[in-house]
Formats: sequence, C-alpha cells, structure tokens
Amino acid sequence: MSVVMQADYDLETAINRIVEQYQGKPTALIMILQDIQTHYRYLPRAALDLVAERMNLPLAQVFGVVTFYRAFSLEPKGRHHLCVCTGTACHVRQSSVILDCLERKLDIHAGETTADGEISFETVNCLGACALGPLVTADEDFHGNMTVARIDKLLKKLREDTAADREAQA
Ligand code: FES
Repeated sequence: MSVVMQADYDLETAINRIVEQYQGKPTALIMILQDIQTHYRYLPRAALDLVAERMNLPLAQVFGVVTFYRAFSLEPKGRHHLCVCTGTACHVRQSSVILDCLERKLDIHAGETTADGEISFETVNCLGACALGPLVTADEDFHGNMTVARIDKLLKKLREDTAADREAQA
C-alpha cells in the first residue's frame, strides 16, 4: 500500500470511529467535528467529505457549521495554540504589546502557524475573564496579567514540553 493510500485509509478509519461513537446522529455534528479537530489539530477537507457521507448530510451543511464557529480551522494548527485576548478590558491593559511581542518572537501574524508547525496563535475578542487581563491562553491553560517577560517564559515552556513529548515517543 502506498503512503498516500495508507494515509487515506487511516483517515477513513479515524473518521468512521469518531462518527460511530455518536451513532452518526446529526445532532452530534459539532461534537464529531470537535473530536476530529482534536485528533488532527484541524479539519482536513477529506474528513469533512467523509463526515457528510457517513452522516447522510449535505456537505454544505457540514461546511456551514465549520465556517460558523471560529474554533474550527480548515488549516493545520500548531502543536501548541495560543489565543491573545484583544477585547476592551485586555486592550486597556496593553494586550497590543503582548500581541506585537508574540508576532516578533514567532515571526508570524495572528492566524498563522510557525514554520516548524509547533505554535500557532490567534486573537479573540473576550475570553470571559476580563479581570485577569491582559489574558493569553496556551492550549487549555489561562495565563492572566501577561507581560513580555512572561511570554518569553511561556514560549520556552511550550518548546520544552514539545521536546519532552518527542523524547518520550522516541
Ligand atoms: S476582554 Fe480580555 S478576557 Fe474579556
């Protein structure tokens, strides 16, 4: 079996498993898409085709959900994902300085992923914890009262985590 065919087979198996977990119920579409995104760190186009087919839904409906929710991504995301809040409360506490710092250090703009595929980041309007501003999330963790010095430490920690994961898998 060629590498491409193996990849297609793996994708189909993974999608079948996820859809079956929810018995293919149309009401579970968002959860199914969330699980696929967790698995691949984005929603591959071929996966959306398979979801539509397995769930007997029009592809346009699946795309409609994907494009409605900002949390879904059609582009590969980094192994680590950061969100910088640029809502009003965070803005008055200098979130733009944090944003500039991240763009410089990672050499990318919001919405992009580093060339090594390790880190991506985006901006959000409010993360619902305004008292902690300026606020940044890294994967599942909230980092409040963010400063440029703390961004350095956070990026160092994420890269160390990646190195440790790689070592554990070797
Ligand atoms: S404005 Fe940043 S968490 Fe609300």
